[in-house]
Amino acid sequence: MTIRSVVRGTGAYLPANAVTNLELAKRVDTSDDWIVARTGITQRHIAADGELTSDLATHAARQALANAGIAVDAVDMVVVATTTPDATFPATATTVQAKLGMDGRGFAFDVQAVCAGFVYALNVADNFIRAGQVKTALVIGAETFTRILDWEDRTTCVLFGDGAGAVVLQAEDGPGGRGILSSHLHSDGRFNKALYTTGGPSATRESGVVRMNGQEVFKHAVVKLADVVEEALKANGLVGADIDWLVPHQANQRIIDGMAKKLGLGPERVVSTVARHANTSAASIPLALAEAAADGRIKQGQIVLLEAIGGGLAWGASVIRW
Ligand code: UT7
Repeated sequence: MTIRSVVRGTGAYLPANAVTNLELAKRVDTSDDWIVARTGITQRHIAADGELTSDLATHAARQALANAGIAVDAVDMVVVATTTPDATFPATATTVQAKLGMDGRGFAFDVQAVCAGFVYALNVADNFIRAGQVKTALVIGAETFTRILDWEDRTTCVLFGDGAGAVVLQAEDGPGGRGILSSHLHSDGRFNKALYTTGGPSATRESGVVRMNGQEVFKHAVVKLADVVEEALKANGLVGADIDWLVPHQANQRIIDGMAKKLGLGPERVVSTVARHANTSAASIPLALAEAAADGRIKQGQIVLLEAIGGGLAWGASVIRW
């Protein structure tokens, strides 16, 4: 028998405060036209003062458990993909574990792969499940990314937002064929400086703020995402036409459109939330998954392709039979 990690439920949470481009343009030297034309973004959600990454993550996790019909005491493992943890330590996932009322059951830890974080975390959880060490896992992408933005830097501050998404994975041992079929991860630290923060606990004792060479990241994204998607399709004997849903990292509508075109997929087979959510880093894919599962677009048995790239550079793709 082959153990597979089946997605049992999804959840999402966006902070209440949605800030439009027009509102942002009142305090940043930018325009709605520029942001929409270059990225497709029209608004982003911004967490309230005192609202932490663990709060966003806990909301999304509760919704995913309810959606799955699985009680919190069945959860063996909580993985939170985040670049904006509540604190340097403890792991935000342990705070989520406590907020969910797991009462010390199971184990929890964070994964840091920036915008590729959810694909990394999903692969980590899948490996625990396939190895038989875990039966039920909560995989969460959660960010208060706006807290590490430099609001004086218009080349980055207009691009990002806050939010959280979660999936419940459960081991299924049988011939059903559902579940995560494969994941493919890559990184190349030679490109650290394409997208980074100006500080960190070891270097400056502060978290620093985001800096990005947008054009450099864009060029890498187009090539590396195409390569990893090809690798993922090949590993499963699939071609673009076999994909029911492309659920990409939501950084830029132009990159999303480019990938869809390469795969031969029309916009009706692509889940895009970037217009309303902006780039929520590790949260963007699970937010998009939760939205498309909740409104009935993604259906059981369909093939879903995830892909993401971000700081590191780190990138990856996963293929799921939903
Ligand atoms: O999630 C991690 C992965 N990240 C990504 O995938 C991001 C990849 N990169 C991108 O999406 C794009 O490179 C950006 C959206 C970040 C930028 O778009 P671009 O078409 O590469 O613009 P650019 O950086 O070449 O800037 C073009 C112009 C510049 O002016 P000049 O030098 O041509 O006069 C910028 O100063 O646009 C100017 N500009 C702005 N103008 C108004 C830059 N930011 C802004 C702004 N508002 N917010």
